[in-house]
Amino acid sequence: MNCGKKRAVVVGLGIGMAHARAYMESDYACLYGVSELNPVRLSKVGGTFSEGNMICLRQLFPDDLLDRKWEDLGVKVFASLDDVLADPDVDIVSICTPDYLHPEHLRKAMASGKDILLEKPLAITLDEARSIEPEIRSYGHDFAIAYEFRSIPPVVHLRKLVQSGELGEVKAFSLYHFRTPFKRDKWNHWIQKKACSGGLLVEETCHWFDLARFITGKEIDSVNCVTEGGINEGFDFEDIAYVNGKYAGGGVFQISHALTGFDFSLQLTVHGTKKVAWCNFKETKSSSLDAGQTDYYAVVSVGPVGGGVEDASVTTYGLEATEPWAIKEQVLNYCRENALGKPHGAGVDDGMKSLEAALCSQESAKTGAAVKLS
Ligand SMILES: NC(=O)c1ccc[n+]([C@@H]2O[C@H](COP(=O)([O-])OP(=O)(O)OC[C@H]3O[C@@H](n4cnc5c(N)ncnc54)[C@H](O)[C@@H]3O)[C@@H](O)[C@H]2O)c1
Repeated sequence: MNCGKKRAVVVGLGIGMAHARAYMESDYACLYGVSELNPVRLSKVGGTFSEGNMICLRQLFPDDLLDRKWEDLGVKVFASLDDVLADPDVDIVSICTPDYLHPEHLRKAMASGKDILLEKPLAITLDEARSIEPEIRSYGHDFAIAYEFRSIPPVVHLRKLVQSGELGEVKAFSLYHFRTPFKRDKWNHWIQKKACSGGLLVEETCHWFDLARFITGKEIDSVNCVTEGGINEGFDFEDIAYVNGKYAGGGVFQISHALTGFDFSLQLTVHGTKKVAWCNFKETKSSSLDAGQTDYYAVVSVGPVGGGVEDASVTTYGLEATEPWAIKEQVLNYCRENALGKPHGAGVDDGMKSLEAALCSQESAKTGAAVKLS
């Protein structure tokens, strides 16, 4: 296929389906190929949606594509990652395989000289991450990590409020996430085992450590964490993590993360000396948590410290504030930045720092003491 743009291959068709859709839509790259070990997922474009929980990504695809075979759309089907990397026509590889495979797959991809978009996290242990970090830093080709919450419009809004100085000096950041347990239909149940996913703090809280830095522009100095488990059977790690932290140079943050829900709420607050910005996300239009009262997917409310409700400026957001659309948007941004040679949203520093915050939180939970990041 000569599409006249950068040719991308998606490896792993779970969340990778959102990457695939973005490459299909991009002005700067095209979907050249896909690689996947599961024959059902690979059997047709909608294979991933014929069973399991990835149904949430189906909305990204027009109905008439779902029964088509990839080959009929001119998309090459690769039997293995090695075959992908051996193809000289491949420019970009999206690595969307399970967390514990990231270092191995990243090393292979770097040996092939392809541009790389890696799903988070960089690795699940600091030793692995530190051993691959120098190779990434000296890699002569493009490398980015997929932290898609950076692309969600309400998050961009919060960041701009901080950067413009509208909030004053940022004193604190808090994030509260209440969600349903991780799904059990991941490939070989990898997400349920700490040795494969890193546990809650590495697998998902890494997103929230990334936002604690990205939105405020501050670096994390230390963390103090408690965890509790024993709720979700079949998972060998914590179901709940509460992290208190300090920023280098002043300011504090708090992250509350629970896999115990029947519904979804994600709430962020940035506390400035002049104003406070508050943001809440829903996953579905009709949320039980607001008794189905609102029909937007996210809201950002900004008001003066000590003011009244009437002083708040309120912005609401639609589907673009949900995860499937954010992942697609992030990959579209990646394609544009890659083609134009612009810096990307998240790179090796961001991957290292969010992973370190997660692993220091695990250590703090074990020892009961605050842990300072390096
Ligand atoms: N950015 C996000 O918010 C977000 C959301 C979900 C998942 N993820 C990340 O995406 C990655 C994948 O997660 P998932 O939920 O899609 O898991 P999944 O288990 O549903 O999908 C992973 C797929 O990779 C395939 N695979 C494994 N090894 C392969 C190989 N060598 N070659 C080709 N395919 C291979 C498996 O068959 C499986 O279908 C993880 O790193 C996860 O952390 C990110």
